[in-house]
Amino acid sequence: MNNREKELIERLLRERSLSEAEYAELIENRDGEAAGRLAEHAVETRKAVFGDAVYTRGLIEISSICKNNCLYCGIRRDNRNAERYRLTKEDILSCADEGYGLGFRTYVLQGGEDAFFSDEVLGDIVSEIKRKHPDCAVTLSMGERSRESYQALYDAGADRYLLRHETAAPEHYAKLHPKEMSFENRMQCLQDLKEIGYQVGCGFMVGSPFQTADTLAKDLKFIETFRPAMCGIGPFIPHHDTPFREERAGTAELTLFLLSVIRLILPEVLLPATTALGTIDPKGREKGILAGANVVMPNLSPVRVRRKYELYDNKICTGEESAECRGCLEARMKSVGYRLVIDRGDAPGFERNDQ
Ligand code: SAM
Ligand code: FES
Repeated sequence: MNNREKELIERLLRERSLSEAEYAELIENRDGEAAGRLAEHAVETRKAVFGDAVYTRGLIEISSICKNNCLYCGIRRDNRNAERYRLTKEDILSCADEGYGLGFRTYVLQGGEDAFFSDEVLGDIVSEIKRKHPDCAVTLSMGERSRESYQALYDAGADRYLLRHETAAPEHYAKLHPKEMSFENRMQCLQDLKEIGYQVGCGFMVGSPFQTADTLAKDLKFIETFRPAMCGIGPFIPHHDTPFREERAGTAELTLFLLSVIRLILPEVLLPATTALGTIDPKGREKGILAGANVVMPNLSPVRVRRKYELYDNKICTGEESAECRGCLEARMKSVGYRLVIDRGDAPGFERNDQ
């Protein structure tokens, strides 16, 4: 680590901000020593806010049917080999019931952009989960919808919404998505979600095709200014039935580095150590926590559909029962000195605007 790198890290710690050019410099000149220094500060920062608690979310993958054709994604519309499924309301409620017994107090309903899940259908499922489990939070991750739709789902009881921005560089966005999708719309969605009152999560894949230190610097600047409640980052991993099948995967090393940087920019952010990170490195999720992450998202989907929600190759946790995943993560967190807690795990200080 040279003096300049040291100076940038010191300033990031003090001011929680760098210029875009400086973020790029920090990334380009990184080495193991810089990563270690950042991780140390990131862990200190997260401990000051969250102690040794790791929040957990039960992920229910409700549909693998998607109208979109994102070039990186294994369940894109044009992948004829993807096996499609859609969970019923009963399936989803029974996953939630099982999750409750296992200690989950947040459910994440994620899926492709599947028109079946209209505001009425999805809103009914959300309100039923909230009725049965009033002490739980519901997070949605169902892609781009209209502002009215986001409002209707918020009114039905949804608390949080995850919509990764994927990249904050418009030209890069255009290389990852088909023409009919737009960077402007994605940004508008994020703005709408925030204004409605959701705890909003943005995020991006690390090492996605055409990503550079400059596009990453834009991502960090966007995170600094947008101030999301949550931020999901994980390595890009190619899927064999997508146009990006020959592309290289992102690395755990850069993902961990960026997790630390994001923790220093936003000390209170909810930052998951993702399944993708656990897929490219067998100890990825533990390392994620040791780099400053504070959330894990074990799978609560019925085992019979797990393999069908294949966003990328070799995804882990596709054969395990929900209880096994919970237990596995509990042991993994314990092994690095942390504990999974039974808690909604809201963003600090956050309140719904209708209560
Ligand atoms: N349809 C919703 C949406 O677009 O936000 C939620 C589902 S989408 C599959 C969830 C996230 O998976 C995306 O935001 C993307 O970052 C991630 N993802 C998709 N393909 C991936 C890949 N090949 N490697 C790593 N992450 C991937
Ligand atoms: Fe699913 Fe470890 S979290 S097996």
